[in-house]
Amino acid sequence: MRTFDERPVAAGIVKKAIRAALRAPAYNHLWEWGFIQIHDRSLRTSLADAAGLEDVSDPDILATKFASLPTEARQIYLRALPLQRTMVLTAPGLLVPVYRPKRGERAPEGPADLNAYAAIWIALGYLLLSLAEDGVYGCTIIPGRSSEARHLLGIPEDWEIATLLPFGYPRGRVVRNEHPSDVDAFLHVDKFRGFSLPTTVEPMG
Ligand SMILES: Cc1cc2nc3c(=O)[nH]c(=O)nc-3n(C[C@H](O)[C@H](O)[C@H](O)COP(=O)(O)O)c2cc1C
Repeated sequence: MRTFDERPVAAGIVKKAIRAALRAPAYNHLWEWGFIQIHDRSLRTSLADAAGLEDVSDPDILATKFASLPTEARQIYLRALPLQRTMVLTAPGLLVPVYRPKRGERAPEGPADLNAYAAIWIALGYLLLSLAEDGVYGCTIIPGRSSEARHLLGIPEDWEIATLLPFGYPRGRVVRNEHPSDVDAFLHVDKFRGFSLPTTVEPMG
C-alpha cells in the first residue's frame, strides 16, 4: 500500500499498534525499542534527504534494475520505486522505529548476532497487523544509510533505525499483491529440499 488518503490516523490507532508491537518477544527481555512519530513536515524532508531516499521513475533505469526478476516481483518494484520519497513526505503518518542492536550486528558471525534486528521485525509485524485491523496500512522503507538520519532524530550512536514507516488509509483501489499459497513447497521434512518459486499464488486479503 503506497498511496495514501489524506485522512489523518487517530492517535489511538497508532497507540494500539505500538501496544501490539510491545507484545512481541524481545530476545533479551529488555524491549530496547522506540517508535518516533514524525509530526514536523520539514523534518520529513530532511529525513528523506539524510536517508538518501529518492523516487526512481526513469523507465529505463527501472527496466534495467529489475530485468532479472520474475514478472510479479518486477511489477511490484515498478510500482514501488517511483513512490519511495513521496510516501515519506506525504503519508498522513510517519513512524521511525528504532532499536538497540546487539554487539556484532554489523559483522555477524551467526544468526544470533542479529537477534535484536529479528526481534524488532517481529514487533513491526505485530504493529502492521494491528494497523491493518483498523484499515490503516504502512510500507516499511529501510534506509540504505542511517548515520545522518540518526543524528537528525537524536538517536544515540549505539541505537539504529529499523525502518521508516509511512502509513495511512489507502487512496484509490488497493492492489493486493499475490502471495504463495502452496504450503507443501515450503514445508520440508528432515532435510531442506531446496527452493523454487511457487507456481500457485493467491491474492491476499
Ligand atoms: C525487510 C523489508 C524491507 C522492505 N523495504 C521496502 C522498501 O524499501 N520500499 C518499499 O516500498 N517497500 C519495502 N518493503 C515492503 C514490501 O515491498 C511489501 O511488503 C511488499 O510490497 C509486499 O506487500 P504485501 O504484503 O501487500 O504483499 C519491505 C518489506 C520488508 C519486509
